[in-house]
Amino acid sequence: MSGRDALVELTRLVREARRPVVLTGAGVSAESGVPTFRGPDGLWKRHRPEDLATPEAFARDPALVWEWYNWRRQRIAPARPNPAHRWIAAYERANPEFLLITQNVDGLHRLAGSRRLVEVHGDLWMVRCTCCGREDEDRRVPLPVPPRCPECNGMLRPGVVWFGEPLPAEALSRSAEAVRKADLLLVVGTSAVVQPVASFPLLARGAVVVEINPAATPLTPFVDLSIRSAAGALLQRIPLPGSPPAGTKALSPSRPGGAP
Ligand code: APR
Repeated sequence: MSGRDALVELTRLVREARRPVVLTGAGVSAESGVPTFRGPDGLWKRHRPEDLATPEAFARDPALVWEWYNWRRQRIAPARPNPAHRWIAAYERANPEFLLITQNVDGLHRLAGSRRLVEVHGDLWMVRCTCCGREDEDRRVPLPVPPRCPECNGMLRPGVVWFGEPLPAEALSRSAEAVRKADLLLVVGTSAVVQPVASFPLLARGAVVVEINPAATPLTPFVDLSIRSAAGALLQRIPLPGSPPAGTKALSPSRPGGAP
């Protein structure tokens, strides 16, 4: 299918969907300058997840893990939503059945206005006490190392899901149910290698599954349409339900007092 045909087909699917679900990964934030994890200059090319993003790593060396999360907070704090984040938030406003499922912890979907979203891997800006379990949003950059609970002085951990930890049960069930009921599933900017999210698209029953990614992934052979493109560059060209069709000249504001 040519690029033009893919644009036309995706526009039709977005317009006609009654229960759209969008599933995003780190690639949706790439055009905001936030590094991805895999691919040519991915974070896991220079760091070992086992040393920085597991409960064992935190138990072994909490200071090193907090240095890593402080570095990520400093990288992400200045980042702003890109056209992909904004389009996804606008699609939510245009469709009451819309749901966003994101693996990202950078908070850029929320910053773009997304509210009906499931952050399956948590939120970088949340911290949780390892003693009393208290959870707070803490946007200090950097955090003291290690940060302490204001209530019990216990050590805080990042409010994210590490490798080897289960996803929050509610996030898992809400996501699986939405994908099963979806009639359109857009899989945007994920390498589709981290479980269980990588298998979410396989739960779809009857949804048209569209992958948006400059590179092929293990999911590519199973989707209905795979569009080789950067998310922001593509999505900003897809008119949303209720917006004037592409090419419509914006009406000039009528002159006060009636006839031109
Ligand atoms: N637009 C769309 N996709 C892009 C763009 C872009 N501008 N730039 C890169 N990509 C694609 C890459 O081709 C790659 O397939 O985004 C994907 C990013 O893959 P990963 O870095 O593996 O990120 P993700 O799939 O979200 O990783 C899943 O792994 O490390 C854990 O918890 C972490 O949530 C993360 C999970």
